[in-house]
Amino acid sequence: MTHWQKYHATWGKLEAPLRPNADIIAKVKELAGPVSGPVLLLGVTPELALAFDHVVAVDKNKAMVDNVWPGDTKDRRAIHADWLDITEPRGFYAAAIGDGSPNALTSLREMRLLFERVVDLLAPGGRFACRLYERPATPFTKDHLLDLAGAPAKLNFHAFKWKLAMHLADQVGASIPVVLIRERFNEYFPNRDKFARDTGWPRELVDMIDVYRGSPAVYVFPNREEVRTVLPKGIADVRFESSGRYDLAECCPMLAFSKN
Ligand SMILES: C[S@@+](CC[C@H](N)C(=O)[O-])C[C@H]1O[C@@H](n2cnc3c(N)ncnc32)[C@H](O)[C@@H]1O
Repeated sequence: MTHWQKYHATWGKLEAPLRPNADIIAKVKELAGPVSGPVLLLGVTPELALAFDHVVAVDKNKAMVDNVWPGDTKDRRAIHADWLDITEPRGFYAAAIGDGSPNALTSLREMRLLFERVVDLLAPGGRFACRLYERPATPFTKDHLLDLAGAPAKLNFHAFKWKLAMHLADQVGASIPVVLIRERFNEYFPNRDKFARDTGWPRELVDMIDVYRGSPAVYVFPNREEVRTVLPKGIADVRFESSGRYDLAECCPMLAFSKN
């Protein structure tokens, strides 16, 4: 069972960088520009669903649609499907948005396929705007992670977890089975009580990493160079912009482009 099937239960406890805050939503709106027409939402991120007038959300995990989606209305509906299988006619959408959506795919190859699909689905001039988790050019080292864990925390636990995932991606390649994030955490930090005491992160928050146990999900954490290699043909005005100020924001740029 993928962790997305049980993640909704802890959704309320997530914060940026895992969930979008108000500044991130404002930035998506800014980069999407004035939109008249249907907006494709990659995932069921409720804040994004409510930020646009006419939204079609697509998510392949039914539990996320059932539990996180704010509900269908006349102008807002969620479809249970894989992004790579969306079958709407070419040029149907005025914009496409998401939050960390391309990272939820399993490989750079799938990322390329998604971007190609998005370009196909956008009307000419339609914009794509989505936050990305991007590992930095200078890797996060094991020593850096151990240093962070040995002192009262200055960043939230989710940002720390993403640093660990990006550290792993530097070692094994951009695609990371989420079970490895938990395994590496257990290897570096075998004593969770000490880890929680030293950092000040509540033990139950730290234990949220166990949601990855047994999950078949794979994330992809590309660096900027890798993202550029999977950008599709037929786009213009490609931008990588800051998504605000929050823990690990420096590794969470907004990617935006428009269809020619
Ligand atoms: C949008 S992403 C990142 C979460 C985001 N930061 C948020 O706050 O909503 C997560 C969602 O993508 C969905 N997902 C992952 N791969 C998918 C795919 N290939 N097709 C459709 N949905 C997918 C997962 O089910 C999950 O609900």
